[in-house]
Amino acid sequence: MNHFLDIHKTDRTALRDIVETAKAMKAARAGRPRGAPDDSLPLTDRMVALIFEKPSTRTRVSFDAGVRQMGGQTMVLSGSDMQLGHGETIADTARVLSRYVDLIMIRTFDEAVLEEMAEHADVPVINGLTDRTHPCQIMADVMTYEEHRGPIAGRKVVWCGDGNNVCASFLHAAGQFGFDLTFAGPVQLDPEMEFVGFARNQGAEVTIERDPARAVAGADLVVTDTWVSMHDAQSARERRHNMLRPYQVNAALMAQAKPDALFMHCLPAHREEEVTSEVMDGPHSVVWDEAENRLHAQKAILRWCLGV
Ligand code: CP
Ligand code: NVA
Repeated sequence: MNHFLDIHKTDRTALRDIVETAKAMKAARAGRPRGAPDDSLPLTDRMVALIFEKPSTRTRVSFDAGVRQMGGQTMVLSGSDMQLGHGETIADTARVLSRYVDLIMIRTFDEAVLEEMAEHADVPVINGLTDRTHPCQIMADVMTYEEHRGPIAGRKVVWCGDGNNVCASFLHAAGQFGFDLTFAGPVQLDPEMEFVGFARNQGAEVTIERDPARAVAGADLVVTDTWVSMHDAQSARERRHNMLRPYQVNAALMAQAKPDALFMHCLPAHREEEVTSEVMDGPHSVVWDEAENRLHAQKAILRWCLGV
């Protein structure tokens, strides 16, 4: 069963194939209306359930559009409207859904929910974000880097801010795609050592740096994300902002990176907090391509999961 649960749990060759398939599928539909079907329709007769226990714009719309472009059908479900949100077990939900649909994508809180879903489903399960990781996002990010600058292997990526779920998947990708990652943030918000350890074990150079300007020096790619994630307590907001303010990605910080460095943000962005509008809308930023590439990368992930 080809579940897509995390970048470190997916074979390197498969990851590379997914990125290359995504690039080819994007090129093949250049200039077409968004709703136009692809030339080949690999998801014909396939039904996909998209379950959201947290809000989403990009993941929801890009998965829905992507499945339809490939000839499949979708149902977008809110966890709170399902019995799942009212006491039915994850295992039972997985068994039942497997009788109706060909694939389940779920965005949830606890990673254990995703794992239990995958364990009990008879169909592939895709991680659409948990509190700990966001693998689909980083597949799109790798694709975006490479379409602008060529192979990401050997490049220096700098993560600025909270060592959160998106940062974790970047660390997994550093290990699997062979790039170096510098984390710049306060010690309280360091990424988990498990993620750092994975990247290092795979041969990636991972550096933890408290001085953002030093961290960004020589960067090929600078990345940030919200200072308060969906799973973070709102009561921690002020404390997090105070810790993270020195790590804002602004024009002065970007000036420390290589002149042709790219800037990425998974979005939604909080302008003038983790990133200034000057950077978001400036010449280094590829955030709109990055958002678009969710569509193409996930289409390739869906095909890999279904073997079509
Ligand atoms: N980047 C991302 O996953 O966005 P959404 O929360 O809008 O899906
Ligand atoms: N770190 C953010 C990512 C949103 C796509 C969150 O989990 O809320």
